[in-house]
Amino acid sequence: MLLGKMLCVFVLLGFSLTSGKLAGGASSSPSCKFPAIYNFGDSNSDTGAHSAVFVQIPAPYGETFFKKPSKRLSDGRVIIDIIAEKLGVPYLSAYLDSLGTNFRQGANFATAGSSILPGFFSPFDLGVQISQFSQFKSRTTELYNNVSSSGEASHDCVIPKPDDFLKALYVFDIGQNDLTLGFQNMTPPQVVATFPNILNRFTQAVQQLYGEGARSFWIHNTGPLGCIPLMALPVELRNVTLDPIGCVGFMNDVAQEFNQQLKEAVTQLRTQLPQAKLTYVDVYAAKFALISDAKNQGFAPSLEYCCGTFSPVFVMCGTSVQVNGTTFNGTACSDPSNRIIWDGIHYTEAANLWVASRILNGSFSDPPVPISGACP
Ligand SMILES: *[C@@H]1O[C@H](CO)[C@@H](O)[C@H](O)[C@H]1NC(C)=O
Ligand SMILES: *[C@@H]1O[C@H](CO)[C@@H](O)[C@H](O)[C@H]1NC(C)=O
Ligand SMILES: *[C@@H]1O[C@H](CO)[C@@H](O)[C@H](O)[C@H]1NC(C)=O
Ligand SMILES: *[C@@H]1O[C@H](CO)[C@@H](O)[C@H](O)[C@H]1NC(C)=O
Ligand SMILES: *[C@@H]1O[C@H](CO)[C@@H](O)[C@H](O)[C@H]1NC(C)=O
Repeated sequence: MLLGKMLCVFVLLGFSLTSGKLAGGASSSPSCKFPAIYNFGDSNSDTGAHSAVFVQIPAPYGETFFKKPSKRLSDGRVIIDIIAEKLGVPYLSAYLDSLGTNFRQGANFATAGSSILPGFFSPFDLGVQISQFSQFKSRTTELYNNVSSSGEASHDCVIPKPDDFLKALYVFDIGQNDLTLGFQNMTPPQVVATFPNILNRFTQAVQQLYGEGARSFWIHNTGPLGCIPLMALPVELRNVTLDPIGCVGFMNDVAQEFNQQLKEAVTQLRTQLPQAKLTYVDVYAAKFALISDAKNQGFAPSLEYCCGTFSPVFVMCGTSVQVNGTTFNGTACSDPSNRIIWDGIHYTEAANLWVASRILNGSFSDPPVPISGACP
């Protein structure tokens, strides 16, 4: 117990030194001092849920930054990691992860395959993630108060302070799988017709968090789905033609329509939730800017992804497949730093850093505030 306490003091000191340094070095004037981050999303921001619940994500995932598989579907950091760094908060533990976790400064509810409405890629749709959050909040609050009244400090360092829920940043990056699910068996107009339902559920999620005291929301829109190799490469299978930059144009059109309606939903929420600050972030535009200008930005075309193959057989990154006595290996390219897409679906760390450096300073936000100014 005593050792636990000392470790906790040590760790907390370490954190405050780090954030002090970051805050001192930051040049932007607005400074919200978010004590915690709560994130809701899919594989674009999963930092451990999929690995904890289903199967460990294998090497070579993680090779660039963590030097080992690190529960993310990338070769390194995902955008929520870069957000955490920027705000001086430790990388978020996944709520569903039972080992080595620390929720003192937030939690990650994002799970690979999740959609806003229930779908069959993952059982952890946005509604489930929000109820996980509510449970997380009520149980940690009870634990915190019990611990404080009993004088035991053993949990202090791994659970949040109840007050911090009001001051935390709430991040969303979800919707891509609703589109992917839709395209499995619907025409583009049919997919678009599902948006009002999907966005109602999204609106409800934000309202529920507001009801729990959340005030600062940072909402990523969905990326250019038609440029994801998994959607664009099996052209024969999908019977589509690619546009000059290698994307399925109609899928991008549908993604942009989704984003337009998401933006309207956020505008409506602003009138309904007067004490909140809702920042809508055009991640689509940032990702598309990179993909459509890949060469000048020092990257290979987005279809030339780094790890795994589509032909002669489909092999997922980090796995191998035997066909006709030959083993095909989903190995990685030698230099992921010049690739946009890592495994045919997810972005490389290099692309995530490129996109994050543009979205976090506010140049793709509405209102145009940097993430450090995203509080009311
Ligand atoms: C808090 O304390 C009460 C009363 O001792 C106990 O019933 C409850 O289970 C405790 N809750 C937690 C989360 O430890
Ligand atoms: C592919 O699309 C073209 C044009 O839309 C259509 O004429 C053709 O029948 C389609 N082929 C298959 C195999 O679906
Ligand atoms: C495996 O063998 C079959 C039958 O000879 C052939 O049609 C197929 O293309 C082969 N697959 C690969 C990946 O070589
Ligand atoms: C895949 O890896 C295995 C084991 O390392 C190796 O024997 C095999 O030749 C590789 N296959 C290809 C197609 O490179
Ligand atoms: C944000 O950063 C990008 C890339 O570093 C830069 O091009 C852009 O001008 C910056 N925008 C603002 C508003 O600071």
